[in-house]
Amino acid sequence: MLVGLTHMAYILAALLFIMALAGLSKQETAKMGCLSGMVGMTVALVATFAQVESAYGFAAIVLAMVCGAAVGVYVARKVQMTQMPELIACLHSFVGLAAVLVGFNSYLQLIQATPIIDANSADLFGELVNKLAAAGGHKQPAMFTTELVEIFLGVFIGAVTFTGSIVAYGKLNGTYKLRIFKSAPLSLPHGNLLNLAALVVSFLLMIWFVASGDMAQSKADAFPLIAMTIIALLFGIHLVAAIGGADMPVVISMLNSYSGWAAAASGFMLSNDLLIVTGALVGSSGAILSYIMCKAMNRSFISVIAGGFGNAPAAKKQDEEMGEYRELKAPEVADLLKNSSSVIITPGYGMAVAQAQNAVASLTEKLKARGVEVRFAIHPVAGRLPGHMNVLLAEAKVPYDIVFEMDEINDDFENTDTVLVIGANDTVNPAASEDPSSPIAGMPVLEVWKARNVVVFKRSMNPGYAGVQNPLFFKENSSMCFGDAKKTVEDIVANI
Ligand code: TAP
Repeated sequence: MLVGLTHMAYILAALLFIMALAGLSKQETAKMGCLSGMVGMTVALVATFAQVESAYGFAAIVLAMVCGAAVGVYVARKVQMTQMPELIACLHSFVGLAAVLVGFNSYLQLIQATPIIDANSADLFGELVNKLAAAGGHKQPAMFTTELVEIFLGVFIGAVTFTGSIVAYGKLNGTYKLRIFKSAPLSLPHGNLLNLAALVVSFLLMIWFVASGDMAQSKADAFPLIAMTIIALLFGIHLVAAIGGADMPVVISMLNSYSGWAAAASGFMLSNDLLIVTGALVGSSGAILSYIMCKAMNRSFISVIAGGFGNAPAAKKQDEEMGEYRELKAPEVADLLKNSSSVIITPGYGMAVAQAQNAVASLTEKLKARGVEVRFAIHPVAGRLPGHMNVLLAEAKVPYDIVFEMDEINDDFENTDTVLVIGANDTVNPAASEDPSSPIAGMPVLEVWKARNVVVFKRSMNPGYAGVQNPLFFKENSSMCFGDAKKTVEDIVANI
């Protein structure tokens, strides 16, 4: 009865998770998607709780959940929107670590499941081991081998996800002046060969591990498992360290995918169907998102997931003389806008840092009230996480119908009077299409320089996330408006 109910609850939860993914694909249905996910997770938790037989087990789970929830609520309330990618990377590392621990736990259970057990043993441990031994008695040799493979693969994927996510966290952490890891790609000599060697050696270790398995004696050598874990931990570090800052969005969604597969592997080891389904959903949606982002950035999916293979050549010197730039003050920008009939606003990471979205929404209202056509152009990797700009604009109640994706609006810049680049840099950098030696070469960008006038809002002439200087700032039709974006936009609003 309980088993039947649990299965029904798991199916319901899986359906709710699928509805969550479907809902999250559109802004209008995103709230519904979030709600489906939350209800699904509640159903899954209740169904899992209901299966816990021992009071100790129940108490341990409740204690762990209370501690986890306390930390989770604290972090979620404190984290800035701009820190979300690093938080996500940090959470992925937990999934990876959990998969490694589940793998080693499954291994220990497997080798302890020896039939030579005192059947009268009354303590909890003896009971558990007896149960496992009894289960082992009904196992087929093929099942034993499958379990060994599951353990090995689960630990491998988990270990790569764990260290890879920590490195990603370090690369994205921009709170401090010094990033823990440099965003520039690490290029060790023969880096690709090292990656290949790690994969081949791990595969050979898997053959050793499986071949050493003896179901009758419930044993399998620990050495290949431990050796592979060390290699996979190092492989994870190298895989992500070798990826350049400009490709980090893809890395985040790729690690998201890895964490899904790690969870699915844990599901196999724990014989938990819902974990398998959920892991597969996360794994495949992360892989699809990575693919879409690669296409948007004109990067080869394989080269990015292979850890920076095919990275563009190193950037030219940053202090290279690019020419003169012009500067406009807020009242002058206000005059320019008053004399424009069409305006496109391209927001970026700086708008998020300055929390300028409400000021930008007020500016939009003012300009629309004067009969100016105002639209927004959103680059797929503007900001620090997919959909970052859309979320901020929605928060500031900017109508969805004036917010356009890059592909929808890129051809319209040449017929536009004024473009306001608010805290965006890499996503509007013409070097991507004009300079083959640039690290962002080939990445599609918003072609803002084709407009009659471009005003760039930023605080200094510093480069953006990819560390590449931007020739846009030095073009004849461009002007810089220096200062914190929120303050500057508010000044402009006051002048209109
Ligand atoms: P960036 O290239 O990062 O440039 C942001 C600009 O905002 C900087 O030039 C900075 O210049 C300016 N800025 C910062 N704080 C500001 C403030 N308070 N007021 C005004 N300006 C401010 O931004 P982007 O164009 O949005 O490009 C995103 C980059 O991040 C891409 O390279 C992308 O690959 C990467 N990335 C994206 C994601 C996702 S999924 N979206 C994830 C990770 C990385 P100053 O310092 O001079 O003010």
